Amino acid sequence: MANLSDEGATKDESMSSEDVVVVVDQLEKIYSGDVRAVDSISFNVERGEIFGFLGPNGAGKTTTISILTTQTLPTGGRAEVLGYDVVKEPGKVRRGIGLVPQELTVDDELTGRENMELQGSLYGVPYSDAKERIDELLDLVRLADSAARKVKTYSGGMKKRLELAEGLIHRPEVLFLDEPTLGLDIQTRTSMWEHINKLKKETNMTIFLTTHYLEEADALCDRIAIIDHGNVIALDTPGELKKAVGGDVIEIEVTDCDEDILEIINGVPGIALIDGTCAENKARIKVPDSGAALPKILTNFITRDIQVASVMVKKPSLDQAFLEFTGRELRDEESTAGNSKKEAGARKGRFRRRR
Ligand SMILES: Nc1ncnc2c1ncn2[C@@H]1O[C@H](COP(=O)(O)OP(=O)(O)O)[C@@H](O)[C@H]1O
Ligand SMILES: [Mg+2]
Repeated sequence: MANLSDEGATKDESMSSEDVVVVVDQLEKIYSGDVRAVDSISFNVERGEIFGFLGPNGAGKTTTISILTTQTLPTGGRAEVLGYDVVKEPGKVRRGIGLVPQELTVDDELTGRENMELQGSLYGVPYSDAKERIDELLDLVRLADSAARKVKTYSGGMKKRLELAEGLIHRPEVLFLDEPTLGLDIQTRTSMWEHINKLKKETNMTIFLTTHYLEEADALCDRIAIIDHGNVIALDTPGELKKAVGGDVIEIEVTDCDEDILEIINGVPGIALIDGTCAENKARIKVPDSGAALPKILTNFITRDIQVASVMVKKPSLDQAFLEFTGRELRDEESTAGNSKKEAGARKGRFRRRR
């Protein structure tokens, strides 16, 4: 497995503390009722990077952000943001960070500009600076023309953009974005990605974002921690995570075949299976090159008079990487507290024949 927490630690040791803006060390949060929301996670975030925290619902993303932004106390381990301990010096942490929470907090009865002014005063931004900054930020998120309208007339995407602008009013060094595009349509999501990218380019701000959208993490993030059931199970660049998939995946479904199709595929001359699983009439195999393997497999099936119902080829993607690391697809299920790692493993084993 290409991950990494060990390699990450070695790399981090060689960095000066100036380069590391978030340190998370064996952090743990157990809610009452023994809900282990965060289970001894460790990682560092470097200055200027977009760090993605990727995982299904209930994985512990929001809880981790709550601890890092000093809203929730951890039950174990420690975390530092900008060199300050989140438990011992929460005030100093808060001064340097911005947060765009998962749930909308903008006030519907105020205008966009009034919301920004309120946020500025909450953060103690001097009035003389605030006006210019508000204009700049409303421009950045393309809300300048709607700034005089009450927020209740805004679309969901406009409200999210206003939240983003609010999170930036005090020029934070680290911005935490919790599911910045949750519930937005594809077009608005894409424009949100543009805003986030622009921020990174223009300000060198460190951005910590959570998401359960794989393509969003892939497009935006310099590094991604895949988290599941409160654990970091992989941490690397999107490119390296995809490399860990190590081949193309082919899924073939046949109609009415008494023979074991995985055995048949395995016996086709020139096919080198990296991995293969089989359930009833459906096989899922991994090969170094699907373009070379697929014609051979199909020709073999035709010769044997085996009817193919469907074929699907998947090139390495973050979807595949997630499946590789967790044993299931991210969109497959909503992770819940009762859904143990053991269960996830059992699902994986049922379909997996050989490695
Ligand atoms: N205040 C809370 N009290 C008890 N359990 C909680 C609380 N907040 C979250 N949880 C539980 O902790 C786990 C992680 O939740 P959360 O951090 O919100 O995950 P995510 O943001 O990845 O969806 C879930 O099982 C959730 O039900
Ligand atoms: Mg969440």
